[in-house]
Amino acid sequence: MAAPATPDAIRDVNTRYHDAAAVEYDHKWGIDFHEIGRGQVLGKLRKGLGARAAGPFAHALEIGAGTGYFSLNLVQAGVIDRATCLDISPGMLTTLENNAASLGLADRVDTVAADAEHLPFDDDSFDLVLGHAVLHHLPDLDQAFAEFMRVLRPGGALFFAGEPSRLGDRIAAYPKRGAVRAAPAWRRLMGAEPVAAHTGAQPNGNRHDLEFAVDVHAFDPPGLRAFADRAGFADVHVSGEELLANWFGWTNRTLEASARPDTVPWGWRQYAYRGYLALQAVDRALLEPRLPAAVFYNLIVSATKPVSATKPAGA
Ligand SMILES: C[S@@+](CC[C@H](N)C(=O)[O-])C[C@H]1O[C@@H](n2cnc3c(N)ncnc32)[C@H](O)[C@@H]1O
Repeated sequence: MAAPATPDAIRDVNTRYHDAAAVEYDHKWGIDFHEIGRGQVLGKLRKGLGARAAGPFAHALEIGAGTGYFSLNLVQAGVIDRATCLDISPGMLTTLENNAASLGLADRVDTVAADAEHLPFDDDSFDLVLGHAVLHHLPDLDQAFAEFMRVLRPGGALFFAGEPSRLGDRIAAYPKRGAVRAAPAWRRLMGAEPVAAHTGAQPNGNRHDLEFAVDVHAFDPPGLRAFADRAGFADVHVSGEELLANWFGWTNRTLEASARPDTVPWGWRQYAYRGYLALQAVDRALLEPRLPAAVFYNLIVSATKPVSATKPAGA
């Protein structure tokens, strides 16, 4: 299925896909709100913001907050005092509210269903605007970055992570293709049963068809940087993370997706998870300091709103 042509169609497909994905989302992506999840989120924030990552930020706005992976972990870690979590999918926000309630954070987190390109907030409202794995879903990134700039207070920080790099995405296609070919043998080895063929008549609203339509961008580092530059941000920095960890992760995820989840052995899941964490450490220590950002699978962009920011003409 080709990407939908109009911005409204992209927003609509994102809303429907993520509404349908919301209940199983945390399980599917291994989202954790305890020590491991906090460690992951803090590690990424440090890569983007350096010493500023310690915060505390009095009021943060998360764009495309999903089920709360970043905001809820950062509130628990004491980096954010209060989080406003915005998402276009009401279904994801319902899961986020449930997660916040079960973690005892409901009074420090509020949710807003809205589009990232039209933020329903006053100018200079937030100390930090952040997001994870969301920019690649937004049709008009210049409009979105202009909004991030507007709602940040002067001196406030911008941070987005988990954005697919164009080259990294191309490189990751090889392990994914290999895993598709190896899947039948892997299932036999694991004693796992094949997942039922997709019929298009599933109760979750054709989610698998939509999956290919929600991602509208992959970035190269200069292109990603240019959105922040054009919006008027200062101290713009783009870095890359995860290479070996991503090859390993995508291979395993592709294998697992070919099997009925309840038939994938627990031992395999442990191996896949621990292997991913170990390779992340190798990437961090050896590859990220040495290789160019473009070869990694995920990009991080961070920046600051200048204290003397002037509004673009006509704003
Ligand atoms: C890949 S998920 C990431 C969720 C979360 N940040 C995480 O890391 O788990 C992308 C999120 O962006 C949201 N999204 C997509 N398009 C959006 C838009 N135009 N405005 C606001 N949120 C949007 C989706 O609904 C979804 O929750």
